[in-house]
Amino acid sequence: CGIVGYIGPDQAAPFLLEGLSKLEYRGYDSAGIAVFDGDKIHVTKSVGRLNVLAKKVEISPLQGSLGIGHTRWATHGRPSDANSHPHTDCAGKFVVVHNGIIENYMHLKEQLIAQGHTFTSETDTEVVAHLIEECYAGDFEAAVKQVLEQIEGSYALVFMCQDEPGKLICTKQDNPLVIGLGEGENFIASDIPAIISRTRKTYILSDGEMAIVTADSVWVMNRQGIPVTKKVFEVNWDAEAAEKGGYEHFMIKEIYEQPKAVRETMTSRVAKDNSGITFEELNWTKDDVSPIKKIAIIACGTAYHAGIVGKYLIENLSRIPVEVDVASEFRYRSPLIDEQTLAIVISQSGETLDTLAALKEAKKLGARTLAVTNVVGSSIARDSDQVIYTWAGPEIAVASTKAYTTQLVVMAMLAIYMGAIKGTLTTDKVQALCQALRELPAQAYEVLEDVEPIKTFAQQYGFNEDVFFIGRSLDYAVALEGSLKLKEISYIHAEAYAAGELKHGTLALIIEGVPVIALATQQDVYEKTLSNIKEVKARDAVVIGLGLKGDQQLEKYVDHTIFIPATNKFLTPILSVIPLQLLAYYAAVTRGCDVDKPRNLAKSVTVE
Ligand code: G6P
Repeated sequence: CGIVGYIGPDQAAPFLLEGLSKLEYRGYDSAGIAVFDGDKIHVTKSVGRLNVLAKKVEISPLQGSLGIGHTRWATHGRPSDANSHPHTDCAGKFVVVHNGIIENYMHLKEQLIAQGHTFTSETDTEVVAHLIEECYAGDFEAAVKQVLEQIEGSYALVFMCQDEPGKLICTKQDNPLVIGLGEGENFIASDIPAIISRTRKTYILSDGEMAIVTADSVWVMNRQGIPVTKKVFEVNWDAEAAEKGGYEHFMIKEIYEQPKAVRETMTSRVAKDNSGITFEELNWTKDDVSPIKKIAIIACGTAYHAGIVGKYLIENLSRIPVEVDVASEFRYRSPLIDEQTLAIVISQSGETLDTLAALKEAKKLGARTLAVTNVVGSSIARDSDQVIYTWAGPEIAVASTKAYTTQLVVMAMLAIYMGAIKGTLTTDKVQALCQALRELPAQAYEVLEDVEPIKTFAQQYGFNEDVFFIGRSLDYAVALEGSLKLKEISYIHAEAYAAGELKHGTLALIIEGVPVIALATQQDVYEKTLSNIKEVKARDAVVIGLGLKGDQQLEKYVDHTIFIPATNKFLTPILSVIPLQLLAYYAAVTRGCDVDKPRNLAKSVTVE
């Protein structure tokens, strides 16, 4: 979900709607704003996309220069007008917007109902609005503090009080919240894109902090009420970077940004003479690497798929055993983690709650922690012992693309880095890998230039109900990501299988005309993959083979081919995923899907 707030001399509603439009990728099944008109607070909210709300506001404008807004991704309670935020108390004097989950809301709700409160929604958030009404005895700040003592769970909350209209109060726990600092005006948002058109100066709130925001002051205090001096965090990327820049969708823009993103992620890390990798942010020596007996990679969605590639790379190049877990499973399987474990959490947003919770668990168990994230100052970045940033720039489309390829670059660099320190890689091998890394941006361009055949396949097969992806070793890892991309945005049922495993069950689903995308870039398993291709061809599947340029054999066994430039086998996933991203994108466009905002999904999932 996304949150915005405004206090200052201007009309609040236009900023709130504009800010929410920048946050729509965080959730978009309903939205709402509340504005104080000098006398009363008025709330307008609506199920559906933000433009439905904008229409309502156009018809009945909300006047006033103090307001809060929210765009929702449903958790507790289905998308509906009533369940949309902002939520109010019985008298409509308190208004609140919330991201996260109030875990003890049922208990609090029962208490409040017994005290005479009437609820109008099914959400956990409404409890907070009634609770503050119950706690208020003429002091807004004191009432918020009392609310915080009673609620449990994760939250970013912004409160407005009709009887004390000179301020907004906000607080956070396990959900992001930033305050934008203006001249005679201040802003609140769950994410920076909502405010960068107005200010670059921000305070990033930490867990447990509460801020009292007026038009010309921001007071931050900790849980104990002790004032906190915040450092101003200056946003160094511009509003334009978060816009579409001439492309039809954010996703295609981000796909085309990959050469740049890959290059920037490598800049200053791959030595100019290819002698090795440096991570200034780590600065590890043998004493840091040798004690690592196991690595646990933990992530969700696309980042999890980057972790699977990471396992292959780290085990092969640095010879350290690696386990990969989806974050939502990690905590509940009594993982064998101790001081000799390095836990690597991968997260584009740095805010995924499952990943954050897994990180905390790994820390509790004594592991050293390393975050790989794209968002500076994000919760995961702050909670980890060390951080490597992927310099992909803001990723807006729900389906992750450039974050994934840059995560792969980081995995490769980290594997080389540790391998070199441990001595599992010879100088020659390090040199060859560094050189191959340097060539990647240009090779990624080459793949992107060859888009026409992919568009044709998407049009030809875009209306099929099922698609299978097969591959062995690193090709299998990439197949997983290719199939996720296709399901996420085109809603085609897609499955990825280790090519050798197909015959143990799934082959039963391969019938005449079913498209199979076969990845065959890994030379050490090439012949075996070809055998698996023959197995599906024998069942009359239509096979699109993805191979390396110069491969003379592949087209003899498949119906169509896509070729990518040859690189070091460990780096191939960074190139081979690109045609699969393009295929998913053009299939979704062919089917008329809402590419950047696929149904039921959100970019950043801050609930468990
Ligand atoms: C959501 C997004 C996915 C993303 C996953 C993990 O489900 O829709 O695209 O891969 O979260 O996000 P993270 O920000 O932690 O990488």
